[in-house]
Amino acid sequence: MKKIHENLLDGLIALPSFPVVFVTVEKNIMVAAAFHFYSFKPPSVMVGIKPEKYTYELIRTKKEFAINIPNIEQLDKVNVCGSISGKDVNKYQKSNLSYEKSNIIDSYIIKECPVNLECKVVHQINYNGSHRWFIGEIQAVHIDDMYTRDNALMFWLGQFRSVGKIIEGRKDEELFCNE
Ligand SMILES: Cc1cc2nc3c(=O)[nH]c(=O)nc-3n(C[C@H](O)[C@H](O)[C@H](O)COP(=O)(O)O)c2cc1C
Repeated sequence: MKKIHENLLDGLIALPSFPVVFVTVEKNIMVAAAFHFYSFKPPSVMVGIKPEKYTYELIRTKKEFAINIPNIEQLDKVNVCGSISGKDVNKYQKSNLSYEKSNIIDSYIIKECPVNLECKVVHQINYNGSHRWFIGEIQAVHIDDMYTRDNALMFWLGQFRSVGKIIEGRKDEELFCNE
């Protein structure tokens, strides 16, 4: 039986998991699960960052960021970069990750991540929520030949998960990015 919940937060608690990404700006790394694709054309993504995070300050200044997709084996690094602030700490050293210069934006990307998206901020949503969302238009894409989406790491409200199995395929044009 379905019930009406007085606590509106229960609606968020019911949501399924989101992909976990490393957000890099200059030489800092943070972890975000508030991450989504935004648009096929132009290819864009969006990331939600709390204003008290050091990364928020960095993105506001630099107006660019990179999304680095970890795999399940990098969970220990996600835990390090997602629990300390880079304001006074070098998280590349702490997590044993290495950086390389990005191609288009003036920043760094994580060498060990199989996918890196270099993004330019094209819009910031200023609605007064806990997370402030940045829309980033993708400027450059790096993908390891061995990369598979099946190996991504998901997260929501304290639980890390792996991606589930494919249960059906669909061929509708609209559901592909050539729309
Ligand atoms: C799995 C996971 C997901 C997270 N998702 C977000 C998020 O979407 N937005 C956010 O602002 N912080 C998120 N955090 C917290 C930040 O990554 C964390 O506070 C980090 O230390 C901030 O780093 P900074 O101060 O160097 O920017 C997440 C942490 C973890 C472990």
